[in-house]
Amino acid sequence: MFLEDVKVIENIQIADNYYLMRVEGTKIPQHSKPGQFFMLQCKDNSKVLRRPISLHNVDGNILEFYYEALGKGTKEFTRLSIGETINIQGPLGNGYDTDLKGKNIVVIGGGMGMAPIKYLIKDLKDNNDITFIGGGRNAGAVKIIEKFDFKNIQLKVATDDGSVGIKGNTVDILKKILKDENKNIDIIYTCGPHPMMEAVAKVAQENNIRCQISLEERMACGIKACVGCSILTKKGMKKVCYDGPVFESTDIVDVDVVDPNGGCK
Ligand SMILES: Cc1cc2nc3c(=O)[nH]c(=O)nc-3n(C[C@H](O)[C@H](O)[C@H](O)COP(=O)(O)OP(=O)(O)OC[C@H]3O[C@@H](n4cnc5c(N)ncnc54)[C@H](O)[C@@H]3O)c2cc1C
Ligand code: FES
Repeated sequence: MFLEDVKVIENIQIADNYYLMRVEGTKIPQHSKPGQFFMLQCKDNSKVLRRPISLHNVDGNILEFYYEALGKGTKEFTRLSIGETINIQGPLGNGYDTDLKGKNIVVIGGGMGMAPIKYLIKDLKDNNDITFIGGGRNAGAVKIIEKFDFKNIQLKVATDDGSVGIKGNTVDILKKILKDENKNIDIIYTCGPHPMMEAVAKVAQENNIRCQISLEERMACGIKACVGCSILTKKGMKKVCYDGPVFESTDIVDVDVVDPNGGCK
């Protein structure tokens, strides 16, 4: 983990409230993993707490962050100009388990859950067969997909309003793949709104497919020094910033149909 003032080299609006920020540093680690995140500091001293933002991509000593301007902190980020600095701390958290070769993988990103997906696909695509399902409320919520590299990847998109891809959601597409394509899926990775991940996890568990989900909790320190992000899992209390944010879905989501004698598989 490192703490550094990095230089903003790009900070552009992708759509609506969605932004992409690229920063350049000197100590940017080469050993970061998809699914890890950084704590970004606000300059205005009234905002004491850093904001957790996922690693969207790494390219040499350049990091990318994809973020939604929601509250005071993230809105402040939108005003950063090229050449200004921002203090970042990371990489933090465990990240997805991407040590796989020759697997059939489905990656599902919903809305802002698209944030860790670009780096995840980049890390997996050379050694595995990947289907990426992206979804969101409308065209703006999935516009970031245009910036992904989809060479050798099957892409399927769904929007609630049908403005891009099929009208529906990512879980509909996942179910259709399982029904129509008779594909043996080895693992599903997902990040997005909690109800979406829960639905994905249930489909995965019903079909005996390993599934990793990335959870969001409000974070104060990001380094397991407070209890701000504690959650109860089937393996006891865990801190999302340290034990997560990525968890095996079976540790979080209950699917009784899988094991009628109780619990998940
Ligand atoms: C591991 C992780 C990765 C994330 N990655 C991204 C990402 O890549 N892009 C993105 O847009 N958002 C991401 N988020 C959510 C993002 O951290 C919050 O939207 C953001 O902190 C809200 O800050 P604000 O200044 O907009 O809102 P404010 O209302 O000003 O925030 C007030 C406080 O609440 C905390 N907070 C509010 N909402 C959240 C939340 N959902 N999760 C955690 N802390 C919150 C803030 O850190 C701050 O301390 C991630 C959250 C986590 C936990
Ligand atoms: S945010 Fe402090 S322990 Fe996780």
